[in-house]
Amino acid sequence: MSVRVVAPGKVNLYLAVGPVDASGYHPLATVFQALDIADDVVVRPSNTLSLSMPGTDLPVDETNLSIRAARALAAHAGIEPLAEIEIIKRIPIAGGMAGGSADAAGTLLALDVLWGLQTPQDELLAIAATLGADVPFILVGGTALGARRGDLITPLRAVGHYTWVLITQQQGHSTPEAFRVFDENAVPGLPQPVVDPEFLEAVAVGDVGAVVRDARNDLAQICLARHSGARAAADACESLDVPYLVSGSGPTIAALCESGDPEALRAELAARLTGATCLIARGPARGAHLA
Ligand code: C5P
Repeated sequence: MSVRVVAPGKVNLYLAVGPVDASGYHPLATVFQALDIADDVVVRPSNTLSLSMPGTDLPVDETNLSIRAARALAAHAGIEPLAEIEIIKRIPIAGGMAGGSADAAGTLLALDVLWGLQTPQDELLAIAATLGADVPFILVGGTALGARRGDLITPLRAVGHYTWVLITQQQGHSTPEAFRVFDENAVPGLPQPVVDPEFLEAVAVGDVGAVVRDARNDLAQICLARHSGARAAADACESLDVPYLVSGSGPTIAALCESGDPEALRAELAARLTGATCLIARGPARGAHLA
């Protein structure tokens, strides 16, 4: 018997950052969109707890967010964390697309089914929030507002389909490092972050081009200044007059394909950007769900 869950990656259509708090986290006002690039989390009964991620060299020890998710769910239910977990990775690693968070969210859902727990959604979301700020959104999916640390999720009214070319880099970018540089550059009296109501209206009515042109990401300049591959990707989008955004803390750049053949845009960007991998993705997609 096995349980398979599809756990999507995400982009942030909007990411406003506020002043760091005493816990070291930053208040966020973000709009997430789940994508159809997803990891598969497969769990099976076992006498121990184990994790494999074939084809990657990611650590599969206690530091892995998927193992931590298994332990957190078992502790919540008062049971032993016994399962074999296998993760098939497709979401770019360390790319600002919540790959690790997707694996944690997928593990929570898969083990909830394998262990027959039927944990209420609000409890699953609360466990998810203890694992990482992006984990609750991956459970919800679609298009949603993230408040507090990005972990307090409100689904948004949204229409429109987005076709992206994701420009991913071999070398990732550290999220804590991006926030540290943000703090260094932050002006005193930085206000609490909010999402511009006009932006929310563009999301609601599906004005896809306006959403991406008006996208705000307070970590984008930090990413582009520190990651030459991301800078080159952004420059290529600008020279082609293609709207783009930096996903989360980067370095993945999401270029919007407004019309025409996405494969042609993918090939054009790939030809200009040696060293980057270009993938077509569509959003919004469902949150983590049984395959
Ligand atoms: O929550 P998660 O573990 O994914 O966050 C990774 C790091 O990003 C945190 O350790 C913190 O340094 C930074 N972060 C932050 N404020 C947030 C979310 C993340 O400072 N709202």
